[in-house]
Amino acid sequence: PEEIRVYEFAEMINKQPSEIISKLFMLGMLTTKNDFLDKDAIEILADEFGIEVETVNAQEEFDYVKAYDDDDEGELQERAPVITIMGHVDHGKTSLLDYIRSSRVVHGESGGITQHVGAYMVHKNNKNITFIDTPGHEAFTQMRARGAEVTDIVIIVVAADDGVKPQTKEAIEHAKAADVPIIIAINKMDKEAANPDMVKTQLSDLGIMPTEWGGSHEFVGVSAHTGQGIEELLEIILLQAEILELEANPTRDAKAVVIESSLEKGRGPVATIVVQNGTLRVGDTVVAGVAYGKVRALLDHAGKAITSIKPGEPGVIVGLSEVAEAGEKLVKVESDKAAREYAQKRHDYLRQKELSRSTKVTLDELSQRI
Ligand code: GTP
Ligand code: MG
Repeated sequence: PEEIRVYEFAEMINKQPSEIISKLFMLGMLTTKNDFLDKDAIEILADEFGIEVETVNAQEEFDYVKAYDDDDEGELQERAPVITIMGHVDHGKTSLLDYIRSSRVVHGESGGITQHVGAYMVHKNNKNITFIDTPGHEAFTQMRARGAEVTDIVIIVVAADDGVKPQTKEAIEHAKAADVPIIIAINKMDKEAANPDMVKTQLSDLGIMPTEWGGSHEFVGVSAHTGQGIEELLEIILLQAEILELEANPTRDAKAVVIESSLEKGRGPVATIVVQNGTLRVGDTVVAGVAYGKVRALLDHAGKAITSIKPGEPGVIVGLSEVAEAGEKLVKVESDKAAREYAQKRHDYLRQKELSRSTKVTLDELSQRI
C-alpha cells in the first residue's frame, strides 16, 4: 500500500511537522515525524486543516486478482514446488542448476555473471520441480527479493572454500522475510580448500543450524562439477515440498507472476512467468499490470512451444501489448475489453502516483521559497 509519513504530509500541505504532531496528539495519537499516516488519520487531518485530499486506493487496481483465493477443497491437486536458488556471487548457483538440468547456461553468460532471473523445470521421481535462478551480484537486490517472494523453498548456495559472504546474509534475510523454508547447499565440495565445517559454524552463528548439530535446517554438501550430493539435494527438496503439501486448482483460470520480461526481436514483448494457480493456455486473454493481450504462444524453458502451463510451473508467454513489469501479477480475464480496462486502470494509477510525486516536489520548492 502507498503510504505517507508525517513530515511528507506536512510538506504537502505547507505546515511544520510539529503542527501535525500536536494536532494528532490532541486527537489522542502519539506520532513522530517519521511515522506513517493511515487513511483515517489523513482524512481527519485534512478536515482539521480545511484542505481537500484525494486518497488513491492502491488495492483497487488489484481487484482482478482478488477472486483467486477461494478454491474448493475437492478441486485442489498437488502442484510443482517453486524453488529459488540464492547466494553470493560466483558461489555456483547457475552451475548447480546446470548440472541439475544437464545444460550449459553458465557458458552463455557474459563474464559468467547472472544478470537476470531464469526459470526452469526439472523432472525427478515423476514429479516436476520449478527452479528460479537469481543473480548473486550485489547490484541485483530487487531481483533476489522478487525471487524469494514467489517461491516455496529457498536454496542458499554457499561455496565451501569461501564461506558466508554479504549476499549470503542478504539471501537469508530475503528468505526469512518471505517466511519460506531454507535448505543450505554447500557447493564446491570438490575443491582442495573446501571447508564445510566453517560454513556450518558461520551459518549457525546466524541462526541457521544443521540438523546434525541439533538445528532445524538441512545442509547438503554438493559439487556442481562432479555432481556429488546433487541427488541428495533433490531428494531433500521433494521431501520438504511434500511436507508443505503444496496444492492448487488446475481447473480454474490462471494467475501467474511475472519473473522477468523483455522485448525480443521478431517476438515482441515476452515475459517469463510462474503460474501460481489455475492453468494458463494459448488463446487466453490476460492482463499483467499495464500490459495485456491474447496469449499467442507459450514456450517452455528450452524454447519449445507448449499449449498450457500448470500451477507451480514456469514458461514464457508471447503476445503481450508491452513489456510487463517484473513482479506484476498476470491473470486471465474474461474479455479483451476487460483486459484493456484493467491495464488502463493500472496505467492511470501509476501516472497518478507519479504526478503526486512531482506535485510534492513543487510544494517542496514552494516552501523553500517562502
Ligand atoms: P552469479 O550468478 O554471478 O551470482 O554466480 P553463480 O553463483 O551462478 O556462479 P556460477 O555458477 O557462475 O559459478 C562461478 C564459478 O564457480 C564458475 O567458474 C564455476 O565453474 C565455478 N564453480 C561452480 N560450482 C563449482 C563446483 O562445485 N566446484 C568447482 N570447483 N567450481 C565450481
Ligand atoms: Mg549465476
